[in-house]
Amino acid sequence: MKIGIGNDHVAVEYKNVIREYIEAKYGYEVINYGTDSSERFNYPVSGEAVANAVVNGEVDKGIVICGTGVGISLAANKVNGIRCVTCSEPYSAKLSREHNNTNMLAFGARVVGIELAKMIVDAWLTGEYEGGRHQVRIDMLKEIEERQKSK
Ligand code: RB5
Repeated sequence: MKIGIGNDHVAVEYKNVIREYIEAKYGYEVINYGTDSSERFNYPVSGEAVANAVVNGEVDKGIVICGTGVGISLAANKVNGIRCVTCSEPYSAKLSREHNNTNMLAFGARVVGIELAKMIVDAWLTGEYEGGRHQVRIDMLKEIEERQKSK
C-alpha cells in the first residue's frame, strides 16, 4: 500500500509525525508531495499533486494537511475521481470509507491535535468500503463530474 501525503507550510512538522506514524504502524510506503519548508506554500499545489497521484495510480490513497484541512481538500476535490473528506473526528473518517469510498483524507494542523489525528488516520486507513447500496451514490458523483466536463 502506498500513501501520498501533502501539506502546506503550516503543517510541515505535523506531516512528518503522521508520515512516520503510518510507516511505523502499518509498514506502508508514504510518498511526500508536500513542502518541507516553512516558506509560504500555497495549498492548492500540494492538494492537486496528491490528488493526481491517486487518480493516476502512483499511490493508493492520499492524505493532505493544511491549517484547517479545508483549502487543501477543496483543491483535491477539484480533480476528477477524487473523493476527499475533511475530518476532525474518527467516526466521519470511518464512515467516509465505508459509505463514500473516500480516496483522500484531509485534516487541519491548527484544528486537530496530533494524537486525535492519529486516531482519525487509523479509522480511515482501516475502514473498508461496503459497496452495495452506496455504489449508486458513488456512481451519481461520477455522473456529476461527467456533466461538468460537457459544459
Ligand atoms: C494558511 O495560512 C492557511 O490558509 C492554510 O493552511 C489553510 O488553513 C487553508 O485552508
